[in-house]
Amino acid sequence: MPTTATAKSDRLQGKIAVVMGGGSSNPEGGLSNGQAVAIAFARAGATVVVVDIKREAAQVTVDIIEREGGIAFAMAADVSKAPDVENVIRTAVEKYGRIDILHNNVGIEYMGDVVDTPEADWDRVHDVNIKSVFLACKYAVPEMEKAGGGTIINISSTASLKFSDVPYIAYNSSKAALNHMTQIIARQYAPKQIRCNAILPGMMDTPHIRTLYKDLPADKFKEVMAGRDAKCPMGRQGTCWDVANAAVFLASEDASYINGVLLKVDGASSI
Ligand SMILES: NC(=O)c1ccc[n+]([C@@H]2O[C@H](COP(=O)([O-])OP(=O)(O)OC[C@H]3O[C@@H](n4cnc5c(N)ncnc54)[C@H](O)[C@@H]3O)[C@@H](O)[C@H]2O)c1
Repeated sequence: MPTTATAKSDRLQGKIAVVMGGGSSNPEGGLSNGQAVAIAFARAGATVVVVDIKREAAQVTVDIIEREGGIAFAMAADVSKAPDVENVIRTAVEKYGRIDILHNNVGIEYMGDVVDTPEADWDRVHDVNIKSVFLACKYAVPEMEKAGGGTIINISSTASLKFSDVPYIAYNSSKAALNHMTQIIARQYAPKQIRCNAILPGMMDTPHIRTLYKDLPADKFKEVMAGRDAKCPMGRQGTCWDVANAAVFLASEDASYINGVLLKVDGASSI
């Protein structure tokens, strides 16, 4: 049974959340992981600052949240650029007083192995996937310290753990670095009551994935998606709500002693 959408609750009531990459790279194709997380945080009672490289992409998510009666605010930022990230954190704190939850969702890929990946694409993937999280934490952690604690969730991937059929060397290594950075931050800032965990999605059926195959003829596209489902032991790919439900749990008090965890959300695909 596919996971259902996150229900309304008070699990994050009164919390202030920043979701980096809370828009979608394909707004026509259903909800992305980042959008679902922003919506799920709002449904659990959080006020959500939705950040995306395109303000319009963040605004789409904010409009959904507001239509449901939630509170959200859209900001544009390139998460790989220090001044943009500093501005997001400063604005969130000026507007709402503190940051309780930092959710780092942005991730890009370049298909290529160690020989054929151009240096510029290696650098771009690492800037967007790992330097971005370094920058977000650099500016958000001192604010969390001042507020007496907080929680950070980093979106990694099971591609950080093992070789996959398709060569994505820059992506794999950036996500593996993200796992380690997550655990180092968790260990160092535990005495400050700042928790840092990662979610490692497996194969997910998201608009971004559908975009990768959008130029295929319809029957071939169906075949590719069925092939992805068949590769998963549970007979289906994950959905954005599988990630969002895990994120709400990790952000909530239910996970108050869960720190430094690399939580696979992959239906046992990586075993
Ligand atoms: N879909 C899968 O199968 C799968 C599997 C494992 C992990 N993931 C991870 O999930 C995360 C993304 O999922 P998604 O569905 O939300 O993807 P997505 O690409 O639809 O959304 C990411 C958002 O980040 C934004 N973005 C891109 N570069 C940015 C930048 N430099 N600054 C600010 N915003 C930027 C995009 O505009 C987009 O709105 C990634 O970290 C990805 O690695 C996905």
